[in-house]
Amino acid sequence: MKKVVIATLLIALAAALLLFVFVKKPAKAVAESAPSVAVIGKAHAQSATAIADMSLPMPLGLKGDPDKGRIFFMGNCFTCHGVSGDGNGPRAYFITPPPRDFLLETSRQRLNRPVLFEAITNGRIGTNMPAWGKVLSSQEIANVAEFVFQNFIHPVQENKGSNNK
Ligand code: HEC
Repeated sequence: MKKVVIATLLIALAAALLLFVFVKKPAKAVAESAPSVAVIGKAHAQSATAIADMSLPMPLGLKGDPDKGRIFFMGNCFTCHGVSGDGNGPRAYFITPPPRDFLLETSRQRLNRPVLFEAITNGRIGTNMPAWGKVLSSQEIANVAEFVFQNFIHPVQENKGSNNK
């Protein structure tokens, strides 16, 4: 009698675990790839990662020129990240993990200037994101990082800000 109870409990436990694993995973994947982040809700976005300080400057005292950065982005980065920064460039379809979608709320909360600079310089090991530090100068990296920041990460703030000359 006791054995039956224990066995039933064990089966229930295993089922609960399986449910947990399978229900959790797709939910996360959907959240990551969803085009509109507004639906995910603030609670989820806040619990994901701490919001980075978006006022931080470029490292090494650099100041990026977004116009120069745009030219480089539209010649080199758009093939993966897309002209509008949504990660849907012509090459994106063939790439796993897919190129970062800069318009996602999770990107906008994390990719401040120092993080962009670092990511572009060193690339992302294990992904197709190249380490541009091997071919670009620090100033050129700052330029393209500033373009990404102003156009995809924080377009509204930049346009409204007092430093909009
Ligand atoms: C061959 C395709 C490809 C090209 C070209 C490319 N990237 Fe990426 N990039 C990726 C992929 C793939 C990722 C996603 C890495 C990941 O999931 O961690 C990524 C991620 C990033 C990230 C985010 C890193 C992070 O921490 O989230 C930034 C910023 C970025 N790329 C900027 C650029 C810029 C700027 C250029 C052009 C100078 C560029 N990329 C060119 C494929 C590319």
